[in-house]
Amino acid sequence: AVESTLVLIKPDAVARKICGEIISRFERRGLTLTAMKLLRITPEIAAKHYEEHREKPFYPELLEFITSGPVVAMVLTGPEAIKIVRTMMGPTNPVNAPPGTIRGDYATIMTNNIVHGSDSETSAKREINIYFTEQELVQ
Ligand code: CMP
Repeated sequence: AVESTLVLIKPDAVARKICGEIISRFERRGLTLTAMKLLRITPEIAAKHYEEHREKPFYPELLEFITSGPVVAMVLTGPEAIKIVRTMMGPTNPVNAPPGTIRGDYATIMTNNIVHGSDSETSAKREINIYFTEQELVQ
């Protein structure tokens, strides 16, 4: 089925000026950009996005990192987009990410793992709503 998923290019990737390369990978794969913006994530947005991790030991570090600089938020749309994006990103921990995946090609440590992608249809709907209004989603 055609799905939409929320992807963040995290502050480490924006600082390294590899946004274009990452967006290119998703486009080359055949996914369609249906919304995109550059923003600085506030602590409030971060808390909403990562509410499921609030009790985790890595939560303070995660919040500090995701608010440390601008991110690119985008919605990618296409057949099985959620699964395809997750496969292209590779495992959350870059140590386990094979070459050819985004994390496997650009990252070494867990916190600075370059990209985020929604993990389910429920998460995708919730996360898209955090970053975009209905009007900002292109049909
Ligand atoms: P992301 O896909 O953005 O979703 C939650 C983030 O928390 C994840 O990427 C990692 O960057 C981070 N994360 C998950 N598990 C750990 C962990 N054990 N230690 C540090 N950071 C983690």
